[in-house]
Amino acid sequence: MHTEERTFIAVKPDGVQRGLIGEIVKRFEQKGYKVIGLKMLQVTDEQAKAHYAEHEGKPFYPRLIKYIQSGPIVAMVIQGYNAVAGARHIMGSTNPDTAEVGTIRADFAQVMEYNIVHGSDSVASAEREIKIYFNDNELFTEGKCMSELVIESLDAEV
Ligand code: RTP
Ligand code: MG
Repeated sequence: MHTEERTFIAVKPDGVQRGLIGEIVKRFEQKGYKVIGLKMLQVTDEQAKAHYAEHEGKPFYPRLIKYIQSGPIVAMVIQGYNAVAGARHIMGSTNPDTAEVGTIRADFAQVMEYNIVHGSDSVASAEREIKIYFNDNELFTEGKCMSELVIESLDAEV
């Protein structure tokens, strides 16, 4: 059976500073994924350590922690069929230099260290990362579809 997945996406501080929030959100929305949580925040020491625990001890780790805290990020949760791998496909590979043209990283970034967007690499990572940044009551999965609201609105006028 096919089911929808949720994944954690972040516009990293360089993406926010460069005015690319809308462009990045647009790429996921135009694919058809639903944004079910969205906020701007300053990453705390605890959040940074929890988020990047798998990279602790690697040479780039101190710079990665500094980078993710260098300004506000825009954190979001998106939902859709195959959303984890699909979102990574839209983002492009880690190194913008070798990312496929048309992906976010190829189109807007130059070097691996400042690659403007984060996306969870598995369903398990997504569930772990969502909990670092969002409470359950900050995620919105319910909602009437637009056409239903339009009919309701027109009916209310008579
Ligand atoms: P992300 O977690 O940010 O979505 O990126 P990713 O899965 O494509 O790459 P990952 O291996 O998880 O690395 C996390 C972030 O660390 C920085 N990085 N720098 N200098 C380096 O060798 C190096 N390697 C990784 C990048 O910002 C990467 O997105
Ligand atoms: Mg990663």
